[in-house]
Amino acid sequence: MHRHNATLLRRIGTLTLCLGLASCGPIEPPPPTDADGEPIPRPAPLDDWLRVVEVTPSHAIAVRPTIEVRFNAYLDPGTFNSYSALSLRSGGLTSGGRIDYRMTRKTLRLRPRSDLIEGLRYTLFASRDLRSVTGAPLFPDTPAPERFTDASLPGSPPLDRPEVRWSDIAPIVERSCNACHNDPGWRLPRLTPDALRQTRSTQVDAPLVMPFEPAQSYLMHKILPDYPLRRFTVQPPPYSDAPPLSLDEIERIEDWIAQGAR
Ligand code: HEC
Repeated sequence: MHRHNATLLRRIGTLTLCLGLASCGPIEPPPPTDADGEPIPRPAPLDDWLRVVEVTPSHAIAVRPTIEVRFNAYLDPGTFNSYSALSLRSGGLTSGGRIDYRMTRKTLRLRPRSDLIEGLRYTLFASRDLRSVTGAPLFPDTPAPERFTDASLPGSPPLDRPEVRWSDIAPIVERSCNACHNDPGWRLPRLTPDALRQTRSTQVDAPLVMPFEPAQSYLMHKILPDYPLRRFTVQPPPYSDAPPLSLDEIERIEDWIAQGAR
């Protein structure tokens, strides 16, 4: 649905209006509004490409590495949940592996499923199918410098996330959210594990929390300050004096959802 909206907006955005001899140029479409006439915030610039910002490690890699690829934008979950989203190639050899999306860091992590071959050079390939959440395709021919395997480098740890329980999240929610969300007068969704798993958003067609899938949980879309597709404001709302969440706190909430949101 998001992709469809993005295409539609892009098409509207390039409409050109010419009236007789009057000046001729692109017209700014009126901001889209919801059923209540409230403006819907625009997605981030739709014409930017999805780009690789950083690949780590940057030179040599262990024979059992974890490779991190950071993007400039959040990824469309329908496009990275495949084994071919990232792969390492050397000559005719292709080495895929487990892929993990660290949403808060806009990062895909690849852990090859078997050891690489000592002494070979590998090139990282990102799938042409990758898209940002606003539908931007991957910048063509994104350069990925070769990396040498070096058996003397220590293998990196598996992709596991740090264990997070609700008791780690509850104090953050108490501090930054509950003044409003626990007040019946506001008629807002309760922010408890059960309520979050069982409630659908009143703003978009999405669950507040989809266990194991942070990227598809509207809660994440509401708390990441630069997430481009959401209704109304980031949470906690900037107009309130509730302390904003740090990126580390947002990542902890992501890890909690990725572990099943119990
Ligand atoms: C100052 C009061 C206030 C605080 C503090 C606050 N919220 Fe909200 N929240 C609102 C209001 C009002 C809305 C509806 C309008 C909007 O989305 O901006 C809302 C909407 C939401 C929604 C969307 C609900 C839906 O039906 O889709 C989520 C999710 C949410 N808040 C989570 C949080 C979280 C998490 C925090 C703390 C980090 C938080 N809120 C802090 C007032 C607050």
